[in-house]
Amino acid sequence: MQKNEYILLLGADQYLRERAFSGAKQAVDLPVWAATEDPVRTLNRTFDHMLSADPKDADSLLRAIRGHAAQGRHPRVVVPLNDWTVDAANTVNRTLGLGGLDATAVTNARNKHAMKQALLAAGVRTPRSRLVRSEPELLDAVEDIGLPVVIKPYDFGGSGGVVLATTREEAVAGLAESKGVIARYGTAFNILGDKYLVEQFVDSDDEVSVEVLCGAGRAQVLAVTEKYLSPRPWFAELAHLVPSHRTGDRALTDLAERACTALGIDRGLAHVEIKFGADGTPWVIEVAARPGGDGIMDQVERAYALNPYQLHVGSYLGADLLDVVAAAVPVRTSAIAFLKAAPGRIEDVLDGKPLPPEVRSINISAKPGDLSRAAQNWSTREGLIELEWDELFGEKTQLPVAVARELADQIFVTGEAAGQ
Ligand SMILES: Nc1ncnc2c1ncn2[C@@H]1O[C@H](COP(=O)(O)OP(=O)(O)OP(=O)(O)O)[C@@H](O)[C@H]1O
Ligand SMILES: [Mg+2]
Repeated sequence: MQKNEYILLLGADQYLRERAFSGAKQAVDLPVWAATEDPVRTLNRTFDHMLSADPKDADSLLRAIRGHAAQGRHPRVVVPLNDWTVDAANTVNRTLGLGGLDATAVTNARNKHAMKQALLAAGVRTPRSRLVRSEPELLDAVEDIGLPVVIKPYDFGGSGGVVLATTREEAVAGLAESKGVIARYGTAFNILGDKYLVEQFVDSDDEVSVEVLCGAGRAQVLAVTEKYLSPRPWFAELAHLVPSHRTGDRALTDLAERACTALGIDRGLAHVEIKFGADGTPWVIEVAARPGGDGIMDQVERAYALNPYQLHVGSYLGADLLDVVAAAVPVRTSAIAFLKAAPGRIEDVLDGKPLPPEVRSINISAKPGDLSRAAQNWSTREGLIELEWDELFGEKTQLPVAVARELADQIFVTGEAAGQ
């Protein structure tokens, strides 16, 4: 029987991941498939086929893949695009002899405790941390690490349950809050959330994320993204701008590359989050073994005129693209910023007015009747805008958050602030 191959993308059939399809097509001339548990109710017509399987579950994927293998259709490689599919994609790749990240690299990238141990063992600067389950363990860790501390689930994302505590009382309340977030979302994201990290706090609002293309024992930075954070005690992401004015900072890019090799990530794009201490020292907060989320890849594509998913998929296919990455230069600035309504019940949504010329797209997700809460994590957003400028900024501009705030104030009519 003739062998018909396809590329399977996991986590690509999502809002703000649409460009993964085009990137895969640029990487290789093969049909591009996605996977979903219910392809009848959630058919995505962009893809050449939707595999009927849970993209987070390797067994479910293997069953569906083997069903098609009987008809002569085989995956060339399975490529993960979000945290929830990194393990499943690479387990399938290894099981079918298609390559893939080794199991230790996956654990290092998905379990923040294992990640910290691997980073520290390789001499990569990252905040000291302790793993806790209970309140007594928490207080013991606070004693050891010293206040202030950051408390976070060891296996979640989207800043969900990440809280700053400046006192022991705030630490106790913070752990309870973090456990509450896991109780609400844990099952949907297939995470355990049974342990929490207590971390030394890197005290500044200066933060970047770095997209790094990985190879065997090597890594090359593609882009540095400036991040804009919400007011404390939370760390919700309000905006991302590419390229950061720190793009040429060697201490920063070296640290990002060393973080990836320390974790054993040997293929694909990795997303490294780095925060600067008050003295400017860069600290690795975390590393994800997949391209950045939140539409950051689309900003990288506009800023560099290069689809980063092409590199991610190409690397999973075995191509060495580190030189392509090293030669990439930004040609414009691109940003995404999240719309935040004033806290309270949203009474009206007034869209349709002319938008500033730098606004390239707008998407309003909130509707009248919704409750707007303070920015805490990905779930407290009311929409987003994307912006574009021909110039490259030489310092951190506040334009993304300023334009988003102005538009949100115009668009959302909020009533009396309801209790949180
Ligand atoms: N030790 C720390 N010191 C200072 N700030 C921190 C620390 N840990 C986390 N933060 C802040 O909280 C944010 C979210 O933390 P972290 O990246 O660990 O969680 P996450 O849920 O995986 O986040 P996301 O998916 O949004 O990247 C960081 O981007 C950073 O702004
Ligand atoms: Mg993070």
